[in-house]
Amino acid sequence: ADLDLAALESLALDVARTCARLIVDERPRDLGVAATKSSRTDVVTVMDQRSEALARELLGTARPDDGFHGEESGRVTATSGITWVVDPIDGTVNYLYDIPAYAVSVAAVVGDPSVPGAWAPVATAVVDAARGDAYVARRGGSARLLRTDPRRPEAGPQEQTLVCVESDDLGAALCGTGFGYDADVRAGQGRVVAEVLPRVRDIRRGGSAALDLCWVAEGRLDVYYERGLHEWDLAGAWLVVTEAGGVVRGLHDTAPADPVTVAGPAGLVGALVPLLEGLVEPS
Ligand code: IPD
Repeated sequence: ADLDLAALESLALDVARTCARLIVDERPRDLGVAATKSSRTDVVTVMDQRSEALARELLGTARPDDGFHGEESGRVTATSGITWVVDPIDGTVNYLYDIPAYAVSVAAVVGDPSVPGAWAPVATAVVDAARGDAYVARRGGSARLLRTDPRRPEAGPQEQTLVCVESDDLGAALCGTGFGYDADVRAGQGRVVAEVLPRVRDIRRGGSAALDLCWVAEGRLDVYYERGLHEWDLAGAWLVVTEAGGVVRGLHDTAPADPVTVAGPAGLVGALVPLLEGLVEPS
């Protein structure tokens, strides 16, 4: 059946905005760590859980036949062919410390999001919760940023089409990256950073992979790489980058089934991949 991608995109945006409001408006003053997951550094707050429960309820009410695949609460299998992949707070550690760089990512995907490389996003929204910026995309459409000028809030959100700026000059590139939660993986990531840093303009570790990727589409970062992203970190912003004309790939695959994700304009991705190939040991 033909998918109504505009309707899916608008639902993704509504849900991401509603969850973003919840995590900003109801952030407890004494917010603490509710649980740890894969390691002591991999934390969950009560607001990750509440945001995901809200997304699940809103999406389940709007489209009961769709599947759900969230970071915190597991899966529901689809009968419609669409599964919602949700990161209820991407950038949980920033959120815990009240650093304003965290997002809600809501993505309608086709395929099976639990199998690397077997799924693709078709309509998505990533909302930068602290700033209110919303990044939306739909397959074969465009990637757009909806931003309200803080000096003229009465004008409402202004819409801007995102176009990834082409370049192949890695030495002049601001490169984003991120680190996983496993100590051995981190030690390897530190060694890779040591090699990449002298070859780029600079490196940023923003703490929200979804925002980093949207920022690549927007031009706030030139290129991005990270090892070990999960589908919920990636699903929403992947489409924002590709619909902005950029590339999202693994080191060895065109689709990011690979443990390493590289994103940016084709020229910069083409310059970064061979450098990373020489550095990142296969997992
Ligand atoms: C994390 C963030 C971080 C990235 C990690 C992710 P979470 O997501 O996106 O920037 O480096 O790999 O796990 O845990 O805050 O949803």
